[in-house]
Amino acid sequence: MQLKIAVLPGDGIGPEVTAEAVSILKAVAELGGHTFTFTEALIGGIAITETGSPLPQSTVDTALFSDAVLLGAVGDNKFNALPPSERPEAGLLQIRQALGGFANLRPSVAYKALSASSPLKPEVTDGADILFVRELLGGLYFGQPRWWNRESNEAINTMRYTRDEIVRVARIAFELAASRRGKLTSVDKANVLEVSQLWRATVTDLGRNYPAVTLEHQLVDSMAMHLMNTPRNFDVVLTENLFGDILSDEAAVITGSLGLLPSATIGGAVNLYEPVHGSAPDIAGTGKANPLGAILTAAMVLRHSAKLELDAQAIEAAVNIVLAAGHRTADIARGGEAGTTVTTKQMGRLVHQALAQSIDRSQSMHAV
Ligand code: NAD
Ligand code: IPM
Ligand code: MN
Repeated sequence: MQLKIAVLPGDGIGPEVTAEAVSILKAVAELGGHTFTFTEALIGGIAITETGSPLPQSTVDTALFSDAVLLGAVGDNKFNALPPSERPEAGLLQIRQALGGFANLRPSVAYKALSASSPLKPEVTDGADILFVRELLGGLYFGQPRWWNRESNEAINTMRYTRDEIVRVARIAFELAASRRGKLTSVDKANVLEVSQLWRATVTDLGRNYPAVTLEHQLVDSMAMHLMNTPRNFDVVLTENLFGDILSDEAAVITGSLGLLPSATIGGAVNLYEPVHGSAPDIAGTGKANPLGAILTAAMVLRHSAKLELDAQAIEAAVNIVLAAGHRTADIARGGEAGTTVTTKQMGRLVHQALAQSIDRSQSMHAV
Protein backbone atom coordinates (compact mmCIF):
# COMPACT_ATOMS: atom_id res chain seq x y z
CA MET A 1 0.00 0.00 0.00
CA GLN A 2 1.36 3.42 -1.02
CA LEU A 3 0.11 6.64 0.53
CA LYS A 4 1.28 10.23 0.05
CA ILE A 5 0.52 12.20 3.20
CA ALA A 6 0.83 15.99 3.44
CA VAL A 7 1.70 16.97 7.01
CA LEU A 8 0.70 20.44 8.21
CA PRO A 9 1.86 20.71 11.85
CA GLY A 10 0.75 24.34 12.34
CA ASP A 11 1.06 26.17 15.66
CA GLY A 12 1.33 25.64 19.42
CA ILE A 13 0.95 21.96 20.34
CA GLY A 14 0.17 21.16 16.66
CA PRO A 15 3.77 20.17 15.82
CA GLU A 16 4.16 18.30 19.13
CA VAL A 17 1.16 15.99 18.66
CA THR A 18 1.60 15.66 14.89
CA ALA A 19 5.14 14.32 15.38
CA GLU A 20 3.70 11.47 17.48
CA ALA A 21 0.96 10.73 14.93
CA VAL A 22 3.51 10.60 12.10
CA SER A 23 5.76 8.30 14.08
CA ILE A 24 2.83 5.90 14.63
CA LEU A 25 2.06 5.96 10.90
CA LYS A 26 5.71 5.21 10.17
CA ALA A 27 5.54 2.26 12.57
CA VAL A 28 2.41 0.93 10.83
CA ALA A 29 4.15 1.26 7.45
CA GLU A 30 7.22 -0.59 8.68
CA LEU A 31 5.28 -3.35 10.45
CA GLY A 32 2.84 -3.85 7.58
CA GLY A 33 5.23 -3.40 4.64
CA HIS A 34 3.52 -0.24 3.37
CA THR A 35 5.13 2.81 1.77
CA PHE A 36 3.89 6.04 3.32
CA THR A 37 5.60 9.26 2.26
CA PHE A 38 5.30 12.48 4.28
CA THR A 39 5.65 16.02 2.92
CA GLU A 40 5.56 18.89 5.42
CA ALA A 41 3.99 22.25 4.58
CA LEU A 42 3.18 25.50 6.37
CA ILE A 43 -0.21 26.63 7.67
CA GLY A 44 -1.49 29.05 10.32
CA GLY A 45 0.54 31.47 12.41
CA ILE A 46 3.88 29.94 11.46
CA ALA A 47 2.96 30.38 7.79
CA ILE A 48 2.05 34.06 8.39
CA THR A 49 5.40 34.60 10.10
CA GLU A 50 7.39 32.87 7.38
CA THR A 51 5.46 33.80 4.23
CA GLY A 52 2.95 36.53 5.13
CA SER A 53 -0.02 34.24 4.39
CA PRO A 54 -1.85 31.74 6.67
CA LEU A 55 -2.11 29.37 3.70
CA PRO A 56 0.62 29.73 1.07
CA GLN A 57 -0.21 28.44 -2.42
CA SER A 58 2.62 25.90 -2.11
CA THR A 59 0.75 24.30 0.82
CA VAL A 60 -2.45 24.04 -1.22
CA ASP A 61 -0.46 22.45 -4.06
CA THR A 62 1.21 19.95 -1.71
CA ALA A 63 -2.15 19.09 -0.13
CA LEU A 64 -3.96 18.61 -3.44
CA PHE A 65 -1.12 16.41 -4.69
CA SER A 66 -1.49 14.06 -1.69
CA ASP A 67 -3.74 11.13 -0.82
CA ALA A 68 -4.42 12.54 2.65
CA VAL A 69 -3.71 15.71 4.62
CA LEU A 70 -2.80 15.44 8.31
CA LEU A 71 -3.08 18.73 10.18
CA GLY A 72 -2.02 19.57 13.76
CA ALA A 73 -3.66 22.80 14.88
CA VAL A 74 -3.52 26.49 14.07
CA GLY A 75 -3.82 29.58 16.26
CA ASP A 76 -1.44 31.88 18.06
CA ASN A 77 -2.40 34.58 20.54
CA LYS A 78 -0.05 37.04 18.91
CA PHE A 79 -2.45 37.33 15.95
CA ASN A 80 -5.57 37.83 18.08
CA ALA A 81 -6.00 41.48 17.08
CA LEU A 82 -6.17 40.71 13.35
CA PRO A 83 -9.46 40.51 11.42
CA PRO A 84 -10.72 36.94 10.82
CA SER A 85 -9.52 36.90 7.21
CA GLU A 86 -5.89 37.51 8.25
CA ARG A 87 -5.66 35.23 11.27
CA PRO A 88 -4.08 31.75 11.40
CA GLU A 89 -7.60 30.25 11.53
CA ALA A 90 -8.28 31.66 8.05
CA GLY A 91 -5.64 29.24 6.74
CA LEU A 92 -7.60 26.32 8.18
CA LEU A 93 -10.89 27.47 6.68
CA GLN A 94 -9.18 28.02 3.32
CA ILE A 95 -7.60 24.57 3.22
CA ARG A 96 -10.97 23.00 4.13
CA GLN A 97 -12.49 24.85 1.18
CA ALA A 98 -9.64 24.01 -1.17
CA LEU A 99 -9.86 20.28 -0.39
CA GLY A 100 -13.66 20.33 -0.60
CA GLY A 101 -14.53 17.89 2.18
CA PHE A 102 -17.94 18.78 3.60
CA ALA A 103 -18.53 15.99 6.13
CA ASN A 104 -16.41 16.24 9.26
CA LEU A 105 -16.57 12.98 11.24
CA ARG A 106 -15.86 13.47 14.95
CA PRO A 107 -16.17 10.29 17.01
CA SER A 108 -16.48 10.55 20.77
CA VAL A 109 -16.29 7.31 22.73
CA ALA A 110 -16.12 6.71 26.46
CA TYR A 111 -12.96 4.82 27.39
CA LYS A 112 -13.59 2.36 30.19
CA ALA A 113 -10.13 3.02 31.59
CA LEU A 114 -10.94 6.72 31.94
CA SER A 115 -14.42 6.45 33.42
CA ALA A 116 -13.22 7.13 36.97
CA SER A 117 -11.50 10.35 35.97
CA SER A 118 -14.45 11.82 34.03
CA PRO A 119 -16.48 14.58 35.69
CA LEU A 120 -19.50 12.53 34.55
CA LYS A 121 -20.47 9.44 36.52
CA PRO A 122 -19.36 6.09 35.05
CA GLU A 123 -22.99 4.90 34.91
CA VAL A 124 -23.74 7.86 32.62
CA THR A 125 -20.80 7.49 30.23
CA ASP A 126 -20.03 3.75 30.19
CA GLY A 127 -20.56 2.41 26.68
CA ALA A 128 -21.19 5.81 25.08
CA ASP A 129 -20.11 5.82 21.44
CA ILE A 130 -21.18 8.84 19.39
CA LEU A 131 -20.19 9.87 15.88
CA PHE A 132 -20.76 13.52 15.06
CA VAL A 133 -21.16 14.37 11.40
CA ARG A 134 -20.50 18.09 11.26
CA GLU A 135 -21.20 20.00 8.04
CA LEU A 136 -17.92 21.80 7.39
CA LEU A 137 -18.22 24.10 4.38
CA GLY A 138 -21.37 26.11 4.99
CA GLY A 139 -23.34 28.06 7.55
CA LEU A 140 -22.02 31.06 9.45
CA TYR A 141 -18.39 30.23 8.67
CA PHE A 142 -18.73 30.90 4.95
CA GLY A 143 -22.07 32.71 4.43
CA GLN A 144 -22.06 36.16 2.79
CA PRO A 145 -22.44 38.99 3.62
CA ARG A 146 -20.03 39.20 6.52
CA TRP A 147 -18.47 42.39 7.84
CA TRP A 148 -17.76 44.60 10.83
CA ASN A 149 -18.41 48.29 10.29
CA ARG A 150 -16.30 50.10 12.88
CA GLU A 151 -17.98 53.47 12.21
CA SER A 152 -21.55 52.30 12.73
CA ASN A 153 -20.56 49.68 15.31
CA GLU A 154 -22.51 47.03 13.47
CA ALA A 155 -21.38 43.58 12.36
CA ILE A 156 -22.99 40.77 10.41
CA ASN A 157 -22.48 37.10 9.64
CA THR A 158 -24.84 35.01 7.56
CA MET A 159 -26.07 31.52 8.27
CA ARG A 160 -26.95 30.14 4.87
CA TYR A 161 -27.53 26.62 3.55
CA THR A 162 -28.90 25.25 0.30
CA ARG A 163 -30.89 22.05 0.10
CA ASP A 164 -28.06 20.39 -1.86
CA GLU A 165 -25.50 21.25 0.82
CA ILE A 166 -27.74 19.67 3.44
CA VAL A 167 -28.53 16.59 1.34
CA ARG A 168 -24.90 15.71 0.64
CA VAL A 169 -23.84 15.73 4.28
CA ALA A 170 -27.08 14.16 5.55
CA ARG A 171 -26.65 11.27 3.10
CA ILE A 172 -23.26 10.48 4.65
CA ALA A 173 -24.78 10.66 8.13
CA PHE A 174 -27.65 8.29 7.21
CA GLU A 175 -25.22 5.82 5.62
CA LEU A 176 -22.96 5.86 8.67
CA ALA A 177 -25.96 5.40 10.97
CA ALA A 178 -27.11 2.43 8.88
CA SER A 179 -23.66 0.86 9.29
CA ARG A 180 -23.69 1.43 13.07
CA ARG A 181 -26.63 1.19 15.48
CA GLY A 182 -29.23 2.62 13.09
CA LYS A 183 -30.06 5.89 14.84
CA LEU A 184 -29.57 9.42 13.52
CA THR A 185 -30.12 12.55 15.59
CA SER A 186 -30.29 15.73 13.53
CA VAL A 187 -29.59 18.91 15.47
CA ASP A 188 -31.06 22.30 14.59
CA LYS A 189 -32.76 25.42 15.94
CA ALA A 190 -35.94 25.00 13.89
CA ASN A 191 -38.04 26.77 16.52
CA VAL A 192 -36.30 30.05 15.62
CA LEU A 193 -34.23 29.87 12.40
CA GLU A 194 -35.46 29.48 8.81
CA VAL A 195 -32.14 27.84 7.92
CA SER A 196 -32.88 25.18 10.53
CA GLN A 197 -36.40 24.71 9.19
CA LEU A 198 -34.93 24.01 5.75
CA TRP A 199 -32.39 21.71 7.44
CA ARG A 200 -35.10 19.75 9.28
CA ALA A 201 -37.42 19.46 6.25
CA THR A 202 -34.55 18.30 4.03
CA VAL A 203 -33.25 15.70 6.47
CA THR A 204 -36.81 14.43 7.06
CA ASP A 205 -37.41 14.03 3.30
CA LEU A 206 -34.11 12.24 2.80
CA GLY A 207 -34.86 9.98 5.75
CA ARG A 208 -37.65 8.28 3.73
CA ASN A 209 -34.85 6.62 1.72
CA TYR A 210 -33.36 5.08 4.86
CA PRO A 211 -36.16 3.06 6.49
CA ALA A 212 -33.61 1.11 8.55
CA VAL A 213 -32.45 4.29 10.27
CA THR A 214 -34.48 5.83 13.08
CA LEU A 215 -34.37 9.60 12.63
CA GLU A 216 -34.96 12.04 15.45
CA HIS A 217 -34.61 15.83 15.59
CA GLN A 218 -33.27 17.73 18.58
CA LEU A 219 -33.04 21.45 19.19
CA VAL A 220 -29.43 22.44 19.79
CA ASP A 221 -29.93 23.97 23.23
CA SER A 222 -31.56 20.94 24.82
CA MET A 223 -29.22 18.68 22.84
CA ALA A 224 -26.32 20.22 24.76
CA MET A 225 -28.01 19.02 27.95
CA HIS A 226 -29.08 15.57 26.66
CA LEU A 227 -25.48 14.89 25.56
CA MET A 228 -24.24 15.17 29.12
CA ASN A 229 -27.26 13.48 30.71
CA THR A 230 -27.81 10.49 28.43
CA PRO A 231 -24.84 10.18 26.04
CA ARG A 232 -25.66 6.51 25.38
CA ASN A 233 -28.90 7.55 23.68
CA PHE A 234 -26.95 8.86 20.69
CA ASP A 235 -25.41 7.03 17.77
CA VAL A 236 -24.80 9.36 14.79
CA VAL A 237 -25.41 13.08 15.38
CA LEU A 238 -25.78 15.36 12.33
CA THR A 239 -25.20 19.08 12.74
CA GLU A 240 -24.61 22.26 10.78
CA ASN A 241 -21.15 23.81 11.01
CA LEU A 242 -21.24 25.95 14.18
CA PHE A 243 -23.51 23.66 16.22
CA GLY A 244 -21.12 20.78 15.45
CA ASP A 245 -18.10 22.85 16.46
CA ILE A 246 -19.62 23.52 19.86
CA LEU A 247 -21.23 20.15 20.59
CA SER A 248 -18.15 18.14 19.59
CA ASP A 249 -15.98 20.01 22.11
CA GLU A 250 -18.68 19.40 24.72
CA ALA A 251 -18.57 15.70 23.88
CA ALA A 252 -14.91 15.69 24.94
CA VAL A 253 -16.25 15.52 28.50
CA ILE A 254 -17.75 12.10 27.69
CA THR A 255 -14.39 10.87 26.39
CA GLY A 256 -12.30 12.50 29.10
CA SER A 257 -10.36 15.24 27.31
CA LEU A 258 -10.37 17.39 24.20
CA GLY A 259 -6.90 15.98 23.63
CA LEU A 260 -8.41 12.56 22.87
CA LEU A 261 -10.75 13.49 20.02
CA PRO A 262 -9.84 12.78 16.39
CA SER A 263 -11.55 13.86 13.19
CA ALA A 264 -11.68 13.10 9.48
CA THR A 265 -13.20 15.29 6.79
CA ILE A 266 -14.47 13.37 3.78
CA GLY A 267 -16.35 14.04 0.57
CA GLY A 268 -13.84 16.31 -1.19
CA ALA A 269 -10.87 15.91 -3.53
CA VAL A 270 -8.53 14.91 -0.69
CA ASN A 271 -9.55 13.94 2.84
CA LEU A 272 -8.39 16.19 5.68
CA TYR A 273 -7.49 14.74 9.08
CA GLU A 274 -7.15 16.89 12.19
CA PRO A 275 -7.61 16.38 15.91
CA VAL A 276 -10.60 18.32 17.24
CA HIS A 277 -8.52 20.38 19.68
CA GLY A 278 -6.70 23.63 18.93
CA SER A 279 -3.15 24.88 19.39
CA ALA A 280 -3.54 25.05 23.22
CA PRO A 281 -1.17 27.99 23.75
CA ASP A 282 -1.56 27.51 27.52
CA ILE A 283 0.45 24.25 27.43
CA ALA A 284 2.47 24.55 24.19
CA GLY A 285 6.15 23.72 24.70
CA THR A 286 5.63 22.07 28.10
CA GLY A 287 5.40 18.43 26.99
CA LYS A 288 1.90 18.25 28.49
CA ALA A 289 -0.05 17.91 25.24
CA ASN A 290 -1.99 14.70 24.87
CA PRO A 291 -1.02 13.18 21.50
CA LEU A 292 -3.78 10.54 21.53
CA GLY A 293 -6.27 12.70 19.58
CA ALA A 294 -3.66 13.12 16.85
CA ILE A 295 -2.72 9.43 16.99
CA LEU A 296 -6.39 8.40 16.73
CA THR A 297 -6.62 10.85 13.82
CA ALA A 298 -3.81 8.85 12.17
CA ALA A 299 -6.00 5.77 12.62
CA MET A 300 -8.74 7.59 10.71
CA VAL A 301 -6.26 8.27 7.87
CA LEU A 302 -5.75 4.51 7.58
CA ARG A 303 -9.48 3.79 7.80
CA HIS A 304 -10.77 6.38 5.32
CA SER A 305 -7.88 7.06 2.92
CA ALA A 306 -5.86 3.83 2.93
CA LYS A 307 -8.72 1.37 3.54
CA LEU A 308 -6.43 -0.32 6.08
CA GLU A 309 -9.22 -1.02 8.57
CA LEU A 310 -7.25 -3.61 10.53
CA ASP A 311 -4.31 -1.26 10.97
CA ALA A 312 -6.69 1.52 12.07
CA GLN A 313 -8.16 -0.85 14.65
CA ALA A 314 -4.65 -1.86 15.75
CA ILE A 315 -3.86 1.79 16.58
CA GLU A 316 -7.15 2.16 18.47
CA ALA A 317 -6.46 -1.06 20.36
CA ALA A 318 -2.95 0.16 21.25
CA VAL A 319 -4.43 3.38 22.67
CA ASN A 320 -6.85 1.31 24.74
CA ILE A 321 -4.04 -0.89 26.04
CA VAL A 322 -1.96 2.11 27.08
CA LEU A 323 -4.91 3.75 28.87
CA ALA A 324 -5.89 0.47 30.54
CA ALA A 325 -2.32 0.15 31.81
CA GLY A 326 -2.87 3.46 33.64
CA HIS A 327 -0.66 5.78 31.60
CA ARG A 328 -1.93 9.35 31.62
CA THR A 329 -0.94 12.69 30.18
CA ALA A 330 -1.69 15.59 32.54
CA ASP A 331 -5.13 16.37 31.02
CA ILE A 332 -6.52 12.91 31.85
CA ALA A 333 -4.67 12.32 35.12
CA ARG A 334 -7.63 13.42 37.19
CA GLY A 335 -9.56 11.90 40.06
CA GLY A 336 -6.56 11.29 42.33
CA GLU A 337 -5.15 8.44 40.26
CA ALA A 338 -1.89 7.05 41.55
CA GLY A 339 1.25 6.99 39.44
CA THR A 340 3.17 9.57 37.49
CA THR A 341 1.95 11.34 34.43
CA VAL A 342 3.75 10.95 31.12
CA THR A 343 4.84 13.54 28.56
CA THR A 344 3.64 13.88 24.97
CA LYS A 345 6.65 11.96 23.68
CA GLN A 346 6.43 9.23 26.31
CA MET A 347 2.75 8.69 25.48
CA GLY A 348 3.62 8.39 21.78
CA ARG A 349 6.34 5.88 22.61
CA LEU A 350 3.96 3.80 24.77
CA VAL A 351 1.40 3.59 21.96
CA HIS A 352 4.19 2.64 19.57
CA GLN A 353 5.27 -0.23 21.86
CA ALA A 354 1.70 -1.49 22.35
CA LEU A 355 1.13 -1.35 18.60
CA ALA A 356 4.30 -3.27 17.80
CA GLN A 357 3.35 -5.96 20.30
CA SER A 358 -0.21 -6.38 19.06
CA ILE A 359 0.79 -6.43 15.37
CA ASP A 360 3.54 -8.92 16.26
CA ARG A 361 0.99 -11.13 18.00
CA SER A 362 -1.51 -11.02 15.17
CA GLN A 363 1.23 -11.85 12.65
CA SER A 364 2.39 -14.85 14.67
CA MET A 365 -1.25 -15.96 14.94
CA HIS A 366 -1.59 -15.80 11.15
CA ALA A 367 1.63 -17.78 10.80
CA VAL A 368 0.27 -20.66 12.89
P1 NAD B 1 -7.83 24.51 22.51
O1 NAD B 1 -8.49 23.30 21.96
O2 NAD B 1 -6.53 24.87 21.92
O3 NAD B 1 -7.64 24.33 24.09
C1 NAD B 1 -8.74 24.24 25.00
C2 NAD B 1 -8.25 23.63 26.32
O4 NAD B 1 -8.00 22.23 26.12
C3 NAD B 1 -6.96 24.23 26.82
O5 NAD B 1 -6.97 24.28 28.21
C4 NAD B 1 -5.90 23.25 26.35
O6 NAD B 1 -4.73 23.22 27.15
C5 NAD B 1 -6.65 21.92 26.39
N1 NAD B 1 -6.17 21.03 25.35
C6 NAD B 1 -6.43 21.11 24.03
N2 NAD B 1 -5.79 20.15 23.36
C7 NAD B 1 -5.12 19.44 24.27
C8 NAD B 1 -4.27 18.30 24.20
N3 NAD B 1 -3.98 17.69 23.04
N4 NAD B 1 -3.73 17.83 25.35
C9 NAD B 1 -4.01 18.41 26.54
N5 NAD B 1 -4.82 19.47 26.67
C10 NAD B 1 -5.36 19.98 25.54
O7 NAD B 1 -8.88 25.70 22.36
P2 NAD B 1 -8.69 27.28 22.68
O8 NAD B 1 -7.78 27.47 23.83
O9 NAD B 1 -10.07 27.79 22.72
O10 NAD B 1 -8.01 27.85 21.37
C11 NAD B 1 -6.61 28.05 21.23
C12 NAD B 1 -6.28 28.37 19.78
O11 NAD B 1 -6.50 27.20 18.97
C13 NAD B 1 -7.14 29.47 19.17
O12 NAD B 1 -6.30 30.26 18.36
C14 NAD B 1 -8.15 28.72 18.32
O13 NAD B 1 -8.63 29.47 17.24
C15 NAD B 1 -7.33 27.56 17.85
N6 NAD B 1 -8.08 26.36 17.46
C16 NAD B 1 -7.61 25.68 16.38
C17 NAD B 1 -8.20 24.47 16.01
C18 NAD B 1 -7.63 23.74 14.85
O14 NAD B 1 -6.58 24.11 14.34
N7 NAD B 1 -8.24 22.67 14.38
C19 NAD B 1 -9.25 23.97 16.76
C20 NAD B 1 -9.71 24.69 17.87
C21 NAD B 1 -9.11 25.89 18.23
C1 IPM C 1 -12.33 23.28 15.02
C2 IPM C 1 -11.88 24.71 15.26
C3 IPM C 1 -12.06 25.53 14.00
C4 IPM C 1 -13.54 25.57 13.66
C5 IPM C 1 -11.51 26.96 14.05
C6 IPM C 1 -10.09 27.02 14.57
C7 IPM C 1 -11.58 27.61 12.70
O1 IPM C 1 -12.56 25.25 16.36
O2 IPM C 1 -11.83 22.64 14.08
O3 IPM C 1 -13.17 22.78 15.78
O4 IPM C 1 -14.28 26.38 14.23
O5 IPM C 1 -13.96 24.79 12.80
MN1 MN D 1 -13.70 23.77 17.48
